[in-house]
Amino acid sequence: MDSERMHEERSQYTDRAGQLVARMSLAEKVALMSGRYGLPQLVLDGLILGHYNRNPAPAGGNERLGVPELRFCDGPRGVVCGSSTCFPVAMQRGASFDLALEERVGETIGKEIRAHGGNFFGGVCVNLLRHPAGGRAQETYGEDPFHVGQMGAAIVRGVQRHNVVACVKHYALNNQENTRFKVDVTCDERTLREVYLPHFKACIDAGAGSVMGAYNKFRGEHLCHHGYLLREVLKKEWGFYGFVISDFVFGVRDTVQAATGGLDVEMCNTWHYGRRLVRAVRRGKVPESAVDEAALRIVRTLLLFAGTPDPLPSYPRSLILSKDHVTLARQVAEASMVLLKNEGPVLPLDKVRVQAVAVIGELGNRANTGDHGSSRVHPPYVVTPLEGLRRQLGDSAEVHFSNGRRLDEAKKLAAAADAVILVVGYTHRDEGEYIEYGPISWGGDRPHLRLHDRDVALIQALAPLNRNTVVVLMGGSAIMMEEWRGSVPAILHAFYPGMEGGTALARILFGEVNPSGKLPFSIPADEGHLPAFDRTAAQVPYDRYHGYTKFERDGNEPAYAFGFGLSYTTFALSDPDFSERDGQVRARVRVTNSGDKSGAEVIQFYVGFENSEVDRPRKLLRGFKKVGLEPGETKAVEITCPVDSLRWYNPETATWEMEEMVYQAYIGTSSRAC
Ligand code: BGC
Repeated sequence: MDSERMHEERSQYTDRAGQLVARMSLAEKVALMSGRYGLPQLVLDGLILGHYNRNPAPAGGNERLGVPELRFCDGPRGVVCGSSTCFPVAMQRGASFDLALEERVGETIGKEIRAHGGNFFGGVCVNLLRHPAGGRAQETYGEDPFHVGQMGAAIVRGVQRHNVVACVKHYALNNQENTRFKVDVTCDERTLREVYLPHFKACIDAGAGSVMGAYNKFRGEHLCHHGYLLREVLKKEWGFYGFVISDFVFGVRDTVQAATGGLDVEMCNTWHYGRRLVRAVRRGKVPESAVDEAALRIVRTLLLFAGTPDPLPSYPRSLILSKDHVTLARQVAEASMVLLKNEGPVLPLDKVRVQAVAVIGELGNRANTGDHGSSRVHPPYVVTPLEGLRRQLGDSAEVHFSNGRRLDEAKKLAAAADAVILVVGYTHRDEGEYIEYGPISWGGDRPHLRLHDRDVALIQALAPLNRNTVVVLMGGSAIMMEEWRGSVPAILHAFYPGMEGGTALARILFGEVNPSGKLPFSIPADEGHLPAFDRTAAQVPYDRYHGYTKFERDGNEPAYAFGFGLSYTTFALSDPDFSERDGQVRARVRVTNSGDKSGAEVIQFYVGFENSEVDRPRKLLRGFKKVGLEPGETKAVEITCPVDSLRWYNPETATWEMEEMVYQAYIGTSSRAC
């Protein structure tokens, strides 16, 4: 829809919603403002049945006036309700650098939510990966605000195409997990505007209908009460049309502060709103206009989504886990694993020459799709690496497995095999949403970025025994490899690759698919090169630098740079050309597949600020495009970015200012190779 039509349509819904809200009693308006997923149900689902959010969680609605209720389904690795298609985690999808693909993931999720009877998707997570130890790294897309914003906007578009409201979370500055309920983040206004908000704004500009306030505090105030970030920035400055919900259970702490701060819906049940809010209005502690505004926002968004024609005639349950959806889950995994090292080259393995494969490591035969928190999707099956390889190879090769606990057995297998696939890394116990039930806990922030000692010992013991050793890493973000990366010829980062992960992995290892993922974060050679990270901290000051901007400022070489990833073919770039016209900067380059296999490369466009008079990063990503090329084929690639995106935020004037200076432009295949 073009923006003028969208504007017109939206204002019509504002008028209609205004008329409906005017006919509601105070209690009815307040009833729109909270969820109805109560504690008994939460405990039954989460603790007893082991499937939190197994049905869409209801909120709001008004039957008398025909206002639909909200029916919340979580994500982001698919639909948490029922049994649904399980995609690779969002961080892995970030590594695809493929916006069209992410939009298709969004569409698929949108369709499955509709088929489950939902209309609200809580899985657009765009918190920056400020530090790779952040427990929920896997739920977001990476370290760079521009890239994260583009990926987030893509899934918003896809989900909302099926009239499912997309909820963007966790707004904002939510970058560590264990102390999420109390941690107080501070940063200056420039850091806030330039680093920690742009990706949220990109999702709002893409039309996201909802935002979830985070648990943490910013400048001493809880995000779900935050008048400045909710009312001033999001609603007023950005012109956000939709409504704000709280993060579940512990998001709202105070009725008056939340309602006056701009929090529209308390999720997932009524604790601070409901009768307490009615009383607060009656006693004059909350102006009724705040309730009216919240009700208006909720009603107009729901009417807009319910009133927009669906692209499909119906959403039967047969859509869920349909062949197309499961195939897409596999394709996404194939497009997003990152090949970090490939000496020899060891990969791809040759199906004719490899007669015996040893799959070694606990994770080689485990369904490992990510954390066991609110983002846990329940697919009917998960193809493990071992199963994927067995299916891929059929009778053509023997595939042996050892979990590696008995080192002698593993060594024997490794020495006798033609190729060794060592699958190591993390599970939901090591990282993810931090879940605590009394003395039992799992997930959370990582205490360090190394592999477990047992994994390191396994790599060190086995790598010398077989020249064709491939380390396959599982995990949500950067893993330190310095202790062992010199001793293995090939490393593939497979993340948490979803229900078809094992199939995708086998197809990549045996060359049926050429890897094309790129790191959406930097992997350090030394953890000391990252910003400080204390998972017990109650107060954290942020500055403007993390990820590649920090490596570049400090002159530190990462082990693997943001945007890096190898292929089985080679690409040559030529004739770079930069120009400016009609408010757009245009970067052009010719890309040739100079190898002998078809493949895809991610062309990245960075703008440099070396002549700046204020403190700015050396360069920032401002565009990327993934292009597929046959051997010998050349394509001209053009990437544009608005000149306005080169501005910096001047806190003194509270405006985005353009510096009159010569900017650098870089086009290449990673943040280092450009
Ligand atoms: C998480 C959110 C999630 C919500 C609802 C919370 O614990 O922080 O990300 O959307 O639960 O499932």
